[in-house]
Order: sequence, then C-alpha cells, then structure tokens
Amino acid sequence: MGEFDKGYWEEHWAPTVGKDSAELPVNPYIPTETKHLTVGTALDAGCGTGAEALWLAANGWVVTGADISANALTTGAARASAANLTDQIEWVEADLGRWETDRRWDLVVTSYAHPDTGQLAFYRRLSSWVAPGGTILIIGHLHGADHGHGHPDGATATLSGIKSLFEGPGWTIDVGYQTVRTVHVRGHSTQLHDVVVRAHSNS
Ligand SMILES: C[S@@+](CC[C@H](N)C(=O)[O-])C[C@H]1O[C@@H](n2cnc3c(N)ncnc32)[C@H](O)[C@@H]1O
Repeated sequence: MGEFDKGYWEEHWAPTVGKDSAELPVNPYIPTETKHLTVGTALDAGCGTGAEALWLAANGWVVTGADISANALTTGAARASAANLTDQIEWVEADLGRWETDRRWDLVVTSYAHPDTGQLAFYRRLSSWVAPGGTILIIGHLHGADHGHGHPDGATATLSGIKSLFEGPGWTIDVGYQTVRTVHVRGHSTQLHDVVVRAHSNS
C-alpha cells in the first residue's frame, strides 16, 4: 500500500480525530478563480470534508464531490445537510487516480489532493474530465517550499510543471501563480505555499 493510500486518508478523516482542516472555510482561490464563470456542473476532485464543494453548491453549481475517503464524504454530506445543500451535491467515493468515467464537468477543481499516483499524472487525468469549453482549476502544494507538515516531493508540484500540461493547442491557460497565505485555525496559524493554475478547454 502506498504512503497516501485509502487507509491513510480514512484514518486522516476518521470522525474521532477531529481534524482542524475538517472545519476550514472554503479556500480563497475557489471564489476568486470561479466568480466570473457561468455556473454549471462541477467536480471537486479530492473534496475532503467538502468546504469547496459546499461553497460551489451555494453559489449555483451542481456539484460532484469525489474522494477516496468514505469518512471524509460522510462528514461532507452532514455539512451539506446542515447547509440545506443536499440536493445540489452528489458524493462519490472513488480512487481518482484509477477511476474510470465517461462523465464530463463544466468545471473541475482540485485543492491540495495528492494521490499516490503522483501530481502531474493526477492533474492530467482530471483534465480529461473537463467538458468542451470547460475549466480546470488546480490548487496544489508548491514544490520546494517548506510546508511544515510532511509533504514529500511527490505530493507537490511546480508552477511550470502544471502549466506544461496545458500548453498544447487544446487549452488556454488563464491564470498561473504561486503564493503564500496564512491559515488560522483554533488559535494557531500555518503558512501554506500554494500553486494555482486555471485553464480552459478550447474545444
Ligand atoms: C489535503 S486533503 C484536501 C481536501 C480539500 N480538497 C481541501 O482543500 O481542504 C486531500 C484530499 O484528497 C483525497 N485523496 C487523496 N488521494 C485520493 C485519491 N486517489 N482519490 C480521491 N481522493 C483522494 C483525500 O482523501 C483528502 O480528502
């Protein structure tokens, strides 16, 4: 079993663990990078406990929240119920590094998901699920930065590496940047070194 396999993530999201991150608000890139888009269907790949999926649903998107962890999805579904968003979000338990689907979404987002299959291969897979004319928004841990919470090189990506996936004729890169932000949870703060790429399909 790999380092970031299903067992790892189920334990990470076990209800008894009380993860700080289970209570985090939507990450700021989702509102910033999607506000100009026409709402439609959206896939949140590696949605965790659903902060981003909930925000998208509350803002008109019909959302599929997919994650390898049943524990994460159970928490996400409870949050959706509490927010009266049950009808707008479908929860799918799947290993997205291996999942096969014919479905396509107008928007595919992923934030901080790092499956055991590697970052760029994962992002390439996600790009194949974007509907013609649709958008992909990738938010990842920046390669080479000190994340302070144990992210090996294989769980991070460079800006140029991600952009290289979208430099062919089928895509237009709309946004690409790296940045640092501070997150405050329960009285302590963490610095996140992020990489963000948004691209749309030309077909
Ligand atoms: C660090 S968490 C990020 C959660 C959420 N997207 C956020 O931004 O807060 C990474 C998520 O990716 C999920 N994940 C990891 N490997 C996966 C895989 N192969 N398929 C689907 N989800 C996966 C984990 O279960 C976890 O919920």
